[in-house]
Amino acid sequence: MKKPLNFVITAGPTREFIDPVRFLSNPSTGKMGFSIARAAAKLGHKVTLIAGPVALKTPSGVERVDVVSAREMFNAAKEAVSTDCIFIATAAVADWRPKTCATKKLKKTEMSDVIKLVRNPDILKSISGCVKIGFAAETNDVLEEATRKCREKNLAMIVANDVTEEGAGFGTDTNRVVFIYPDGRTMPLKKMSKLAVARRIVRECENICS
Ligand code: PMT
Repeated sequence: MKKPLNFVITAGPTREFIDPVRFLSNPSTGKMGFSIARAAAKLGHKVTLIAGPVALKTPSGVERVDVVSAREMFNAAKEAVSTDCIFIATAAVADWRPKTCATKKLKKTEMSDVIKLVRNPDILKSISGCVKIGFAAETNDVLEEATRKCREKNLAMIVANDVTEEGAGFGTDTNRVVFIYPDGRTMPLKKMSKLAVARRIVRECENICS
């Protein structure tokens, strides 16, 4: 085995509450992020997994921090990262949250047909001083959008997936991804299980850090 590395991984969705019983979110199940955590721990690396609300068991040997909202995920990430770590952002973080959250369940008569939103922090962009790997969930112009995000967020690599494709993206047990580097190089992988994709990502991180 190569030198053990220190992985910090975000996974799953975030929830942004409108009132105690309603929230904005997305279909992420955490499968991709948990697979990376499992693969990295199996290969002997130290892993901290920051998980949004998902129904998955913690992989063996992984330290897990549960969060709900994007701001909680951001705080947990700032706490967990260090200059020697590899930060892998698999989570589907809500970009927006309701400006206010009611303390009691809103009655239908109290609900407006407009929800005012404010931007959430961009966790991946804001973290600095470590090796950063991002994911890009795209529906169109996959390579262009992912390459832009890779450069804008100062990443060592971004893993692009077309979430409209069968057997890829949200909730599936398989994924088809392309590794994209800041210099424009791309490495497309065939469709495979999320665990197999995860092993390839961990190996790529080992190479980046060697
Ligand atoms: O969880 P699964 O059901 O297995 O699904 C896997 C997946 C589809 C969620 C995963 O493969 C994936 O694509 N994750 C990234 C989803 C996403 O939010 O992509 P994005 O293009 O919107 O964001 C780009 C990158 O910035 C991502 O690494 C994201 O984690 C990060 N980000 C985005 C917004 C934000 N406010 N903070 C962030 O850190």
